[in-house]
Amino acid sequence: MALYRLIYVSQAVAGISYSDLIDIMQKSEKNNMPVGITGMLSFGDSMFLQVLEGSRRTVSQTYNRILGDKRHVNAELIEFSEIEHRDFGLWSMKAVQIDNHPEIRNIILKYSSSSTFSPISMTGKQCLNFLREIMDLYQNK
Ligand SMILES: Cc1cc2nc3c(=O)[nH]c(=O)nc-3n(C[C@H](O)[C@H](O)[C@H](O)COP(=O)(O)O)c2cc1C
Repeated sequence: MALYRLIYVSQAVAGISYSDLIDIMQKSEKNNMPVGITGMLSFGDSMFLQVLEGSRRTVSQTYNRILGDKRHVNAELIEFSEIEHRDFGLWSMKAVQIDNHPEIRNIILKYSSSSTFSPISMTGKQCLNFLREIMDLYQNK
């Protein structure tokens, strides 16, 4: 069956905390695992950047559900494309907080004009490469 990747960016509403991120990750793991969705959710500087991988139908259904969540607004679709293989297949959803750790800020700076996390101003390729490098960082920890 064809595989798809969806990447979007959105703005967290005021007051979102680390415990919200944990709640989202737990719900995502529970829902994504049985339908074969994998991916990563990064959160920092009040922005979410998420990648979802799976069948076209399940990725679309999951994205539609996520769009209705009141914990974020102004979602913008960055990429929706057919892929040959998964990049984030290890995780039914890995949530990563983008903090001030130098290794993370260096990866942001590699793909942006400054070390502030602003996925809204990154290209689709930059977003994907950023997510891949963050994944490598966490996979090896
Ligand atoms: C930024 C963000 C990313 C989310 N990602 C997922 C996801 O990958 N999978 C998922 O099932 N829910 C995700 N959610 C949560 C959904 O919006 C929704 O709350 C949840 O799927 C409801 O699950 P339930 O019906 O089992 O309570 C996300 C929410 C936000 C705000």
